[in-house]
Amino acid sequence: MCGIVGYVGYRNLESVLLVGLERLSYRGYDSSGIAIISDGELSYWKTPGKIHELEKLLQNMSIQGHVGIGHTRWSTHGEPNEVNAHPQINAPHKIAIVHNGIIENYQSLKSKLLSEGFLFRSQTDSEVIVHLIARYLQDNLLEAVERAMLDLEGTYAFAVIAEKEPDKVIVAKKGSPLIIGIGKNENFISSDLNAVIPHTKDVIYMDDMDIAIVESQAVLFKKLGGAYIEKEIHHITWDATSADKNGYDHYMLKEIFEQPTIIRNIISKTIDGDHIKFDSLRMSNEELIKTTRFIIQACGTSWHAGLVAKYLMERYARVLTEVDISSEFRYRQMITGINDIVVAISQSGETADTLACIREAKSKFFKVLSFVNVQGSTIDRESDGIIYTNSGPEVGVASTKNYVAQLVTLYLFTLYLSHLKWSISSNDLVTMISELKRIPDYIDQILEQKESIRAIADKYYQHREFLFIGRGLNYPSALEGALKLKEISYIHATGYAAGELKHGPIALIDEHLPVVCIAPQSPTYDKMISNIQEVRARKGKTIVIATEGDHSIEEFADDIIRIPHVSEELTPILTVIPMQLLSYYIAVKLDCDVDQPRNLAKSVTVE
Ligand code: AGP
Repeated sequence: MCGIVGYVGYRNLESVLLVGLERLSYRGYDSSGIAIISDGELSYWKTPGKIHELEKLLQNMSIQGHVGIGHTRWSTHGEPNEVNAHPQINAPHKIAIVHNGIIENYQSLKSKLLSEGFLFRSQTDSEVIVHLIARYLQDNLLEAVERAMLDLEGTYAFAVIAEKEPDKVIVAKKGSPLIIGIGKNENFISSDLNAVIPHTKDVIYMDDMDIAIVESQAVLFKKLGGAYIEKEIHHITWDATSADKNGYDHYMLKEIFEQPTIIRNIISKTIDGDHIKFDSLRMSNEELIKTTRFIIQACGTSWHAGLVAKYLMERYARVLTEVDISSEFRYRQMITGINDIVVAISQSGETADTLACIREAKSKFFKVLSFVNVQGSTIDRESDGIIYTNSGPEVGVASTKNYVAQLVTLYLFTLYLSHLKWSISSNDLVTMISELKRIPDYIDQILEQKESIRAIADKYYQHREFLFIGRGLNYPSALEGALKLKEISYIHATGYAAGELKHGPIALIDEHLPVVCIAPQSPTYDKMISNIQEVRARKGKTIVIATEGDHSIEEFADDIIRIPHVSEELTPILTVIPMQLLSYYIAVKLDCDVDQPRNLAKSVTVE
């Protein structure tokens, strides 16, 4: 998704804007640009491609000034080129805007503005915003912004600067994230904490229909058409350096190797002796106990975590748990019950489809419990109950450490709820907690196999198709393994329930097809062995993920990766690690852009 930065202050404007854009680049983009006001004059530069293209454009400029905005664009309307890059400009009125979101009525607005003589240069929806502001600009930029907002339908976070009022940036928010960083004699604007944290940890999260007038000495907030308001300042505890690569080649590899530490941190935050505690839950035990159905909705990797949670919640908490893809959940005429809770799982807390679902649920008076990583995100702030997955900033577009954090957190929530409902005993709880505490060491053991996993990647990286199969709790693992491979290496990969092989996918099997078989010790192990034999009988190549000490499986494996023995319910946390590494090494071998895969964004804030 698009990234927005803005700055008003005394520092080197070009540096603050470019560094900010660089810190947003992990979100995925195809063009970038900045606009500034210097000595009362508006200037701007923008270009398709990576940010270093923009830096080349600026290298001979001596940029002065104290007010500026910047943008990384992830194209929705109009191809990635200079004209469609932001800032979008109204030249006669010397106004520049940067925008994240989708203006759903832009065609009708564009027709009206064209008929009034406004000149459009781009194919973007965003350009209507700058011309609307120009249309309404008489004496007061804020008034023009408010009048423009009344015409806009859809979602937006935009920042605007104008020569007419050269000492400020005005920003407005509806449906897309926007954060104000509060400094000393300087203030920062961004769509993402990552661009603000290096400068200040005091931030204000804007809410829908908020407008902010950002100057170096003060930031004023108001609601569209309303009075000025006070906003709460949040102090962020994240450390900016944790978003750096720390010597790894890619953020994704760093985040894969962070996983043992992340889980240790989660365990230390959430487990106190033999008790599980969620500091931020914002939902009473009574509400949880009386819940007769959890309806989980999420996207992508988070949806896979939800599928694992279903097995756990139904097996241990003995509560009906449904799981749906957010974009499907929204349009289903769901049969609902008074004691249902809608659950959102989201790393970013900004995924448009997931956010739309919780808004719809709340409009129907459902309670919403969300599992998010980014504190202060829109889903966090709009949910009734909240549980943080505490994986720290996840920069790689492909989710790794946060997926494992989601699984661990969902497992802990399952134990918490099960113990509340007495569906597991205190002794069971102690046993399950003590096994969970060994998981970080087990992951370390798997990570020690990285070179043998890399060798497997070197053996298979030229194949253009992969199949991933698993059963039970590891059926979602197969989906996740396939998603990891496809999203960073662009190889077509499918995850399947192994029991479905004979219902179609077995037709794919031949000597050219590598099949990743997730076969830890479990009640369905023997069935998995049968499935692996079916693959072998048709000359399929089997890359088997098996439990340490299981030697009988070796005769069915072309290649094998070992995981330590754990209870079945914990195996998804371990089986995904080899698949993360396998996908990573294949993508590196193919020279793919591992951290910013083509066409993808870290947070899909548009539908
Ligand atoms: C996973 O590797 C992808 N980056 C993507 O599927 C992601 O999980 C999905 O877009 C959901 O994002 P969220 O967890 O931030 O809501």
